[in-house]
Amino acid sequence: MLVKNKKYITIWIDKTNPKIVRTIDQTLLPHKFKIVSLKSCEDIIKAIKNMTVRGAPLIGVAAAYGIYLAALEAKLKFKNTGPVDDYILGKSKEIIKTRPTAVNIAFAVINSLTQISKEKTIAGKISTALNFAQKLSEEEIMRCKKIGEHGLKILEKISKSKKGKTINILTHCNAGWLACIDYGTATAPIYLAHKNGIKLHVWVEETRPRNQGANLTAWEFLQNKIPHTIITDNAGGYVMQKGLVDIVLVGSDRTTLNGDVCNKIGTYKTALAAKDNNIPFYVALPSSSIDKKIKNGLKDIPIEERNEDEVKYITGKSKKGLTKILIAPLKSPAKNYGFDITPSRLVTGLITEKGIIKPIKSEISKI
Ligand code: MRU
Repeated sequence: MLVKNKKYITIWIDKTNPKIVRTIDQTLLPHKFKIVSLKSCEDIIKAIKNMTVRGAPLIGVAAAYGIYLAALEAKLKFKNTGPVDDYILGKSKEIIKTRPTAVNIAFAVINSLTQISKEKTIAGKISTALNFAQKLSEEEIMRCKKIGEHGLKILEKISKSKKGKTINILTHCNAGWLACIDYGTATAPIYLAHKNGIKLHVWVEETRPRNQGANLTAWEFLQNKIPHTIITDNAGGYVMQKGLVDIVLVGSDRTTLNGDVCNKIGTYKTALAAKDNNIPFYVALPSSSIDKKIKNGLKDIPIEERNEDEVKYITGKSKKGLTKILIAPLKSPAKNYGFDITPSRLVTGLITEKGIIKPIKSEISKI
């Protein structure tokens, strides 16, 4: 997608040095657009943990690049393949532990390990790990592109029923291209509809505590000229009651075989408000975010709990630059749940790269 009219994806190999992974530092947006270098597996681990990179598909691809960098490091450390395999396995366990909720990390790491285990030489393992990461990145781009094409049909239908009047979409968190490699999941149909001349406007829920909606989705939309308005998370229900929302579109970090959707904290309340107001609630997700091994989201999905400081402090731009300030009593305890579960009964449909399906086992199992 575009940044200052230049095309970018979110993660790539440096053109002059193939041992360096490049990415956008998302902790600085929207105030600063900075490309950073990740030169070791440890750099990847830190970038996922501190959310320099974030969003389910992107952390999956970053994890795959982490395995590649671990293989490069193993080549420098050891001469034969036994300790190399042990080193990569050790690093892969660390990568999987970085963020527990999105299934994409485990999906990427396990599949990369399976492929490199077939290679007998260190050189073979390195090139297989790199190919895997680059292929996964390309596949995620194609999956998001297809999600856009399928989701477009829903937006076209709404636009037709409104006789071409502006469609109002509501989204939560950032399920945009920044969370993916390109296009985004929930945003892919929005970008395509806008390109095709459908009149639309997006309500962007700010998404406390880290404000991915206000910081990232709004920034993406501004760069790509999508009409939008930021609202507090608490305002979502009100705009729905006032008839100002035609459809809710969100992403997912993990969706179960029975169609329970795990996404950024607050998604469940948005889905409840949508149900109460008869507003269609769609989840856009690539097949890499589906975990067919589990059925019950609330029981089986590990929910990340992050540092309480993310709740008690807020970072913004002041005259002194980026500043972190305390917004709650210092001594009050806080709890920082990263994600919640929207039960399948609240989900109208899943927009996948293979088509739009119902959130039920018989349809999800075929994806
Ligand atoms: O904590 P984050 O910012 O990584 O959470 C991201 C989300 O919840 C997204 O909605 C989700 O990853 C879907 S992204 C296409």
